[in-house]
Amino acid sequence: ETHDDLDLRDHIRGIPDFPKPGILFYDISTLLRHGPAWRAAMARLARVIRPYKPDLLAGIESRGFLVAAPLALELGLGFVMLRKPRKLPGATVGLDYALEYGTDRIEMQADAVQPGQRVVLLDDLLATGGTMAAGIALLRQAGAVVPASAALIELSFLNGRQRLDVPFEALLRYDD
Ligand code: PRP
Ligand code: MG
Repeated sequence: ETHDDLDLRDHIRGIPDFPKPGILFYDISTLLRHGPAWRAAMARLARVIRPYKPDLLAGIESRGFLVAAPLALELGLGFVMLRKPRKLPGATVGLDYALEYGTDRIEMQADAVQPGQRVVLLDDLLATGGTMAAGIALLRQAGAVVPASAALIELSFLNGRQRLDVPFEALLRYDD
């Protein structure tokens, strides 16, 4: 099921100079397109997340949804959306966070989590860690306990995990 002989690295390509000159973009489109590799990725992620005993998962718009939704199915859990501003109906809670240049904001529905629920936060990729750190802070603001966070890819040279105060799991690490 987890296809242990399958190297996920073979299914992710680095595209130079995207979105800006000098940036190497790790593209998961080729992984998403490949049924067995994508299935193996979700099965492996399920294996590392299960021990944290989540009650619920959360995913960060937009590529985090691609990870959180199938993983929730695999684990038999629900998942909640952390979204870009003004996308969610009803009462929301939000958090502004700093980017390299400027600020961004994420929001979630105010009633999305019950106080004390264990919510593991997912994204596709950890770069500076700013997005993940903001997501963790927002979930806590809504009353969740966050036992862990995870992504398919960690850009370890950016040291994003140092910004996280919960365990962080990644299936793949790139050192440059
Ligand atoms: C990318 C990626 C992570 C975030 C990582 O999202 O999907 O969410 O950046 O960067 P950080 O660790 O430095 O915060 P992006 O903003 O490109 O949007 P998308 O997911 O909607 O494509
Ligand atoms: Mg993203």
